[in-house]
Order: sequence, then C-alpha cells, then structure tokens
Amino acid sequence: MSKKKAAKPAPKKAAAKKVAAKSQTMMTENRVFKPSAEFSKKARIGSMAEYRRMHEESLKHPEKFFGREAKELTWQKPFTKVLEWKCPNAKWFLGGKLNVSENCLDRHLVGVNKTKAALIWEGEPGEKRVLTYQQLHREVCRFANVLKRNKVKKGDRVMIYLPMIPEAAIAMLACTRIGAVHSVVFGGFSAESIKDRVLDCGAKIIITSDGGYRRGAVVPLKKNVDDALKSGETAVETVIVYRRTGQDVHIEEGRDVWWHRELEYVDAHCAAAVLDSESPLFILYTSGSTGKPKGILHSTAGYLLHAQMTCKYVFDLRDDDVYWCTADVGWVTGHTYMIYGPLSLGATSLMYEGAPNWPENDRFWRIIEEYAVTVFYTAPTAIRAFMKWGDEWLKKHDLSSLRLLGTVGEPINPEAWMWYHTQVGGGKCPIVDTWWQTETGGHMITPIPGATPTKPGTATLPFFGVDAAIVDDLGQEVGKDEQGKLVIRKPWPPMLRGIWGDKKRYQETYWSEFDGWYFAGDGARKDKDGYFWIIGRIDDVLNVAGHRLGTAEVESALVSHPSVAEAAVVGRPDEMKGQGVVCFVTVKEGIATSRDLADELKKHVRKVIGPVATPDEVRFAAALPKTRSGKIMRRLLKQIAAGEVIKGDTTTLEDLSVIAQLAASGED
Ligand code: PRX
Repeated sequence: MSKKKAAKPAPKKAAAKKVAAKSQTMMTENRVFKPSAEFSKKARIGSMAEYRRMHEESLKHPEKFFGREAKELTWQKPFTKVLEWKCPNAKWFLGGKLNVSENCLDRHLVGVNKTKAALIWEGEPGEKRVLTYQQLHREVCRFANVLKRNKVKKGDRVMIYLPMIPEAAIAMLACTRIGAVHSVVFGGFSAESIKDRVLDCGAKIIITSDGGYRRGAVVPLKKNVDDALKSGETAVETVIVYRRTGQDVHIEEGRDVWWHRELEYVDAHCAAAVLDSESPLFILYTSGSTGKPKGILHSTAGYLLHAQMTCKYVFDLRDDDVYWCTADVGWVTGHTYMIYGPLSLGATSLMYEGAPNWPENDRFWRIIEEYAVTVFYTAPTAIRAFMKWGDEWLKKHDLSSLRLLGTVGEPINPEAWMWYHTQVGGGKCPIVDTWWQTETGGHMITPIPGATPTKPGTATLPFFGVDAAIVDDLGQEVGKDEQGKLVIRKPWPPMLRGIWGDKKRYQETYWSEFDGWYFAGDGARKDKDGYFWIIGRIDDVLNVAGHRLGTAEVESALVSHPSVAEAAVVGRPDEMKGQGVVCFVTVKEGIATSRDLADELKKHVRKVIGPVATPDEVRFAAALPKTRSGKIMRRLLKQIAAGEVIKGDTTTLEDLSVIAQLAASGED
C-alpha cells in the first residue's frame, strides 16, 4: 500500500507546494554508541537483525505479529479479528473482552508478584509509601465501589485533578475497573482550564484533593475546582476530596464528599467489568492549533497492549527493576509509562510528588540512590536544568544502580544527551530517546536498548507496527538528510480513536493533509542509516519544557483581557525550556502600555490557562505585521522574537514600519 501511495499520493490541499529543503546544519555529536555485549545478551531483543525481523513482520503481517503479542494480555473473551481499518477509524482485537485493572492488578496476585511493590511513592515533604500489588488491588477495588456508590456507571466520564500521589493511580485504575472513562487534568492547570474540560467531556464527577505540594508550597487544588464549578455551567454533581495537605477547604453540602469517609461505606470486593476491546479508556486534553484543547480519546486493548509491549521491549523491564518515570500523571507519559505499562507488566513503578530541586537540587539523585532505581525516564528540559545546577549534586550520590535511561517530550540536544550518558549513566547505560505524542498513546520512534546503536539527538527507528516516513507536501518521501513532514502510514494499536465529540476535527487535524496517513504535526529528517531526527512542531503548537501549548490558546487568553485588542504568540528558542513563549500585543484605544501591564498580562494568561503557559515576554506594538489579506505573518514574528535579522520575503506585508516598531519593542 505504501508504495502505491508514495508513487501517487493524494494531497487534499489544493495549493500544496514542495516544502522539503536541505536541513540546516545541526550541531551533532558524531559518535555512535552501541549497547554493550553484556546488555545485549540479557536484553529481550539483542541484535539489529532481530529488531529488523520483528519490525518487518509487524508491518507485513500485523495480524500475526499483534495477534501473538496480544496473547500476553489477560482476556475475558478472546478476540476474533486483529484489525479493522476504515480510515480514520481503527478497531483492534475485535470481539475481545478484557479489563485494564484486571491486567494491571488481579493477574499479578498469583505467585510472588502478590507481595511485590507495585508503586513506591515519595511525597515532596518526604513521606514514603509502598503499595504491593495486593494492596493496590484492594485500594482500587474499594475506590471502584466508592465510584459506584456515587452513581458512576460504565461509559461515564470522571475528571481527576490530583497531585502526584498513589490515589491518582488508584482513581484511574478504579475507573477502568468499572468501565468509566477518566480524564486527568494536570494539577498545573487553572480553574478555567478545568471548567473548559469538564464542559467538553460532560463529567458529572470530579476527584480532587485539598491540595498538593510543589516546591515547598501548597497548590490549592480544591479551590481551583470550586472556582471551576462556581458559575454552575457544568453538569458536576459530586466532588470527591482526598485529604492530602490537611489545609482548610470549602465543602459544599450535597456536592462534596471526603474520600476517606466514603471508604467507610464500601467493601473491598469489586469484580472487574467485562469490557470490549474498543471500550473508551480515557480522554486526555492536549493543545492543538486552535484555541480549544482537543480531548484525545484512547480505547482499551490496543492501548494496553502497546503500553505493556513498549515497557517490555523499550525499557526491557525485569522483575527486579525499580523503574522511575518522572512525568506527571496529568500528561500522557504519566498515564502510559508510570501506570498502565509498568503495572500491566508486573513491574515496580516509582512515583515522586514534587519538584526536582526541593529541598535541594539533588532530590532526584537522592531518590535514585535510596531506592536503587535501575531504569530512569525523564525529559530533556529536566536534564538541561540538572546540567545547569552542576555536577556536584550528582557526585554526592551513588547512581550505580542505573542500567537504562530514557528521554521524552522534545528533541534532546547532543550536549544534554552526552551529559546524561556520562554523568548520570556513568557511560554504561543505553539511552532510549523516545518520540511519541498524546495521540499515539505510546512510543513510536525509539531505540531498542539491546539492539540499536544510538546517536545523540535522534530517536532512531520506528517501533513495531509503526510505518513512519518523512514526506514533502505532495506526499513524496524526501531524500536523505532532507527535512519534511513526519507521517505514519498504517494504523497502530494504541492510536487515538478520535477527538471527544468532534469527528470532523479528528479527520481534519490528522487525516486530511495526506489521505489515509496520520500527520503528526512534526518536522523531521532521516539520515543515511534511516534514523529519524525530529526537528519539532511545524504547526502552531509550542513545546515549552516538554509541555504542549497552542499559540491560539495563549492568544485567546490574552484577548480575553479588557486592555488587549489583538495578540499573536510565537515560540522563541530557549536554552533551558526548548521554547519560550513570546506574545506580541496591541492594546485598545486609550490604554497606555507599561511594564506593569505586561506583568499583568502574564499573570492573566497564568490565571486563564495555568502556570505552564506563563509568557516569557510580552511586547507591545501599535500593529501586528499582516499580509494584505489580513493574515498575521508569524514567520516574521518568530524572527523578531528570536532577535534575528528579518529574512525572506516581506513584499506581502501591509506596513513595513510595523517590523521596525516590533523589533524595538523588547521588554526592557
Ligand atoms: O514535537 C514532538 C515532541 O512532543 C510532541 C508531543 O507532545 P505531547 O503530545 O505532549 O506528548 C509528549 C510526550 C509523549 C511531539 O509532537 N516530542 C515528544 N517526544 C519527542 C519529541 N520531540 C523530539 N524527540 C522526542 N523524543
């Protein structure tokens, strides 16, 4: 199929033109790092030949390959057909019945895993908890009964707004136990963001806590929920509140109930619901190129299989591993690689509540040493921060337990890769640089640690079932070292099943650029070895410290301020965060611009979206650069934000003096 497609692609955009251009010279580290013979010998996949054979089989005979892999899940009823694909709708493992919590918990209760640590947790203030598989199972069953008691039924949406505490995992797994669909909202999002998401997914229940700890401060989670519900627009009838910090919170009679009180009414028996392979599992909101975040919908069997398979082949998790994924549970990485993947495989997953620099810059290294962490998965932004804080923080700790390192969320610069390799991994740990997205559910392009020779800065090669290619605007594969658009040409088991409540947007966003292929929104190039180098987003989405942020979201937050007439938001390269947020703003008649107003606007965006979206810079101007047809020229704004000399064609610009003004409009 792909051959035919490549020869005769079907671009839907009328004015498609070739975009592929020789990529700019990138600062690369030319060394290649092969896994050690010792690592390869013990790994599940120990050679490139083995990887290539499996990859080929997964593409040529997906039914056979995935049919075999899926046998490792526990099925209540076996599936009868592996795949049904009518673009853009995929169904995997048709006819099968299974339950995620049963796969993550019950099946580990026979044998030694019963008393094995499922979750090891450390709170920011320093408390420690370990939940064995048996204990976690019990808590999940009890809480599933609490959900039932509060009238939650199969298919209902449950919003979870919790700090990084075991109860987040318990609440998620409890939803899966009864077939409810969870939607976790990151604790760094504001009341308004919660409200938008609750309204969109129609949740009738929210699970939150009084607060959570972050860098020594208490985050007022319950208050944010109260504010989100204040206007009375949502359908929320119940709020379950977990007591974490003990601070005073408002309890709304008839709506709010305490988690611990509710537990008094239930027992610990709760049969796992019998669910279809394609039952919706969760909705997770992520930014797109419009002001409205998209509710990415994932379903049950394909997602769980991939989560488990990647933990098996990419992290190569073993019975005696202590595995730590530092992502927050509010992001997809927290879902797939802190909870579902490791637990489905029966591994031990570590969860830490707080900031990496609290109380001091060595908190992560302290944790690795204390729990003898073996596999560590974090983001390039965090690695760059550790580099900046200095090697002395690491030197105080014994990190020799580590055997494998991973990164995710943004391109990793070769300097950070090398530092991670030598300083954290002691030169002996393979690094898996995993490229994927909220939409893809799990790893898509990634090294296989016992097989793939790695090069700093590339996510290397596609995972099983992933038919990735880099194409120009016409859908033709670009040549070696040429930049183009990253597409996936075949359905894969954990792919998103849609955007909640918006079929049209699902089709348009992912499947309309190239008919029948998934367009990821990223630019990339392939080198002579076929390795994929991800350049970054080529749509109006920023990647700030590994968090996705739509420029349109920030723009609509800005224009909701009474002083703002118009706003355009662009990213600018940032040494630490990957990208910083720069806002160009024009104010309404009669409003004076000032540093105070700039600060007020930053605070306003923070309030509307949440601290993740805080602008780095607000620049005022009399006008924004526009084409004669009124389109904002973002290319120019990006150059101005980055302090570059304006390059390229400005002939369509309405008013050239605007550029000079904007360039002179820095904050200082
Ligand atoms: O641009 C890519 C970048 O993060 C985007 C996906 O963001 P999100 O859905 O929030 O998921 C993040 C965690 C999976 C991608 O479109 N990205 C993710 N991983 C990498 C990456 N860019 C380069 N290298 C990576 N390893």
